Amino acid sequence: MEVGFLGLGIMGKAMALNLLRHGFSVTVWNRTLSKCEELVESGASVEETPAGVIKKCKYTIAMLSDPSAALSVVFDKDGVLEQMCSGKGYIDMSTVDAQTSSKISEAITKTGGCFLEAPVSGSKKPAEDGQLVILAAGEKALYEEIIPAFDVLGKKSFFLGQVGNGAKMKLVVNMIMGSMMNAFSEGLVLADRSGLSQQTLLDVLELGAVANPMFKLKGPAMMKNAYPPAFPLKHQQKDMRLALALGDERAVSMPVAAASNEAFKKARSLGLGDQDFSAVYEVVKVAGSSEES
Ligand SMILES: NC(=O)c1ccc[n+]([C@@H]2O[C@H](COP(=O)([O-])OP(=O)(O)OC[C@H]3O[C@@H](n4cnc5c(N)ncnc54)[C@H](OP(=O)(O)O)[C@@H]3O)[C@@H](O)[C@H]2O)c1
Repeated sequence: MEVGFLGLGIMGKAMALNLLRHGFSVTVWNRTLSKCEELVESGASVEETPAGVIKKCKYTIAMLSDPSAALSVVFDKDGVLEQMCSGKGYIDMSTVDAQTSSKISEAITKTGGCFLEAPVSGSKKPAEDGQLVILAAGEKALYEEIIPAFDVLGKKSFFLGQVGNGAKMKLVVNMIMGSMMNAFSEGLVLADRSGLSQQTLLDVLELGAVANPMFKLKGPAMMKNAYPPAFPLKHQQKDMRLALALGDERAVSMPVAAASNEAFKKARSLGLGDQDFSAVYEVVKVAGSSEES
């Protein structure tokens, strides 16, 4: 199966490499073209524009940072729309809001092409291991055609119906995750300031009802103040912002998410946007230190 791949960031690179490893013929493009080199060494072809990839491939997957990147790659000069036509499919796996996804879907559909949104749950390691959870919505026929690629990229895919449902599901999941990371950070600080061992806290959490892979994976690095980026904090804050906007639309009050968003915003303002989202711990630590000792 031949697929195009637009966007070779942390996730896109891992996903495209995975497709290559499983025998797919992959043509890549990235805004910073030099990032395509590693993929070429692994057998990928390169095109110089998104339009070039669409022209060459029946199916093209995109994995881009945010709504503005997703829109730019489709609508700008040399973009996806220039070569999109009947018989081709475009699968956007970026995390964006439902409005962005619908705008892209309408434009693709007008050309006669098919559109699927398919954001993913799971980070760098699951992307490398083909263990993502895929939240697809849009054209059902395209979903069925692209299943062989989803089977390589993920451990499970969901088809959620009309365009927008995949985007919304992803935002709900990441809103919960961002709030959990803040609560976890506060717990680590509170344990430390109370004279307790953070490692013992991790051990206790691991054995109880709130045990989860995120605490287990991130906790030891956070204790060492290390935040190598798997999920960049700037993207987590984007997801909190988009989830809060969804809450505004639906009149859903979300004070926990709103407070968490403030902490992520603060972390961005301190220059931590390119660190892992667990770096919000730095903000929580500083806030905690203003208390009496
Ligand atoms: N990392 C995770 O754990 C994770 C998990 C699930 C979902 N996601 C979502 O997946 C998406 C990608 O995440 P990531 O971690 O791979 O991000 P990343 O490492 O920051 O990569 C972002 C990609 O978007 C491209 N890009 C940014 N602005 C652009 C523009 N204006 N025009 C064209 N390309 C542009 C970048 O190109 P350059 O190389 O030129 O900068 C890069 O290829 C995001 O929506 C994120 O929220 C991430």
